[in-house]
Amino acid sequence: MLRDHFFLPDDPAIEFRAFTHGLMPKTVPAMMEGFVEDWKTRGVDAWNEVPNRWQPGDERAVGWWTLPEYLGDQFIAPLLGAPAGSCIMQPHVHWTVQCLLSCPEPFAHGHEVVVTEKEFPSVLHSVQQWQGLKDIEARIVPPASGGFVDREAVLNAIGPDTALVILSHVGFTSGEKLDHDFLRTVAERAHAHDALFAIDGYHAASTMPVNVTETNCDVYFGGLLKEACGSSGNAYLYVRPGLTLTPRLAGWFADADPFGFNVAPEPHPDVRRRFLGGTTAVASLYHAVEGVRLLLDLGLDEVRTHSLALTERAIERAEAAGLTLRSPHEADRRGAMVILKAERADLLCAWLKDRHVYTDSRQQRYLRLAPFVWNSKDEVDRAFDIIAEALKSRVYFQHEAPVEAGPVT
Ligand SMILES: Cc1ncc(COP(=O)(O)O)c(C=O)c1O
Repeated sequence: MLRDHFFLPDDPAIEFRAFTHGLMPKTVPAMMEGFVEDWKTRGVDAWNEVPNRWQPGDERAVGWWTLPEYLGDQFIAPLLGAPAGSCIMQPHVHWTVQCLLSCPEPFAHGHEVVVTEKEFPSVLHSVQQWQGLKDIEARIVPPASGGFVDREAVLNAIGPDTALVILSHVGFTSGEKLDHDFLRTVAERAHAHDALFAIDGYHAASTMPVNVTETNCDVYFGGLLKEACGSSGNAYLYVRPGLTLTPRLAGWFADADPFGFNVAPEPHPDVRRRFLGGTTAVASLYHAVEGVRLLLDLGLDEVRTHSLALTERAIERAEAAGLTLRSPHEADRRGAMVILKAERADLLCAWLKDRHVYTDSRQQRYLRLAPFVWNSKDEVDRAFDIIAEALKSRVYFQHEAPVEAGPVT
């Protein structure tokens, strides 16, 4: 589909790791050369103005200073179905969550932060690390059977003591997508208790249409490293228009009068900008949205349709080969990833890699694959021909145990 727009690790490669790390869009090298050029030829003036390499036809002046909100308006807002003025780039989700927890506003009425046990550590650990520093208590909801979200338990955990609810739109260990009606119900329940609802959309936005306004959440955050193909240093934040938040972690880039170097801090009038810290790392903003651009040009409905068709085919073929599915079966509960139980999945993954089929594995038991916009049904079939053969012959058990090259998320 969009195969020709991305670099592949080798050719021919069947690359199924969109859920782990996206491929590089072919426009990225030119964008990075643009960064070098802007720095080389403009020096400090680049903070005020650089050529608009992101939207060449757009008259709006861009400079490194305003790039986080410019990219928020031009690329993140359409990705999230958000209005202009509500989104901004962030360095990573961890920072965004820290900022959110440092705001006094959510804690004016309650002190509990409701999360599930399956949130990513940038959320789950952060909430617990703030306990004791501030009057914050983590209310951690265990999963239901199969590792999926216990919806009833989440709703029951929200009450008069709730300050904030944070849930993953798509679970990173389960591939489970929370549906629109459930998210709206959570928002309603949270708002009934004057609590805020924040969604970690890392694996949802960019794989399907998202509409933060209809979902009625207060905050939505995520990153562009994976399905959005933007590499590291490129996370984002949406704050519901009209919501006041004043992160105590706000840095001088978030100040209303940064070059006044005043004695006392003054929160920026634009709430989203209050989530900035010290000097913005601008190099990563040059490669941030090249993947998003491709996905938006194709259309998020089309992205989702294609992703669902490929995951459906993968599930059919996996089940026919005798593998058990660990991620949800139903289309409306599926994200972009398929998780399969496989004996010595680590060896199978390494064996497949030798054959240029790229998947990843977890805990030696789970094989994960996320066929995405650069893949075709034919590739899914070819990959599963190889997988079926490996399972039948058990030949992959003879593969050398893979060297731990470092963790991948
Ligand atoms: C659901 C989810 N949230 C957040 C992150 C990453 O967080 P950070 O940007 O802090 O590294 C990941 C990475 O895998 C994730 O899967």
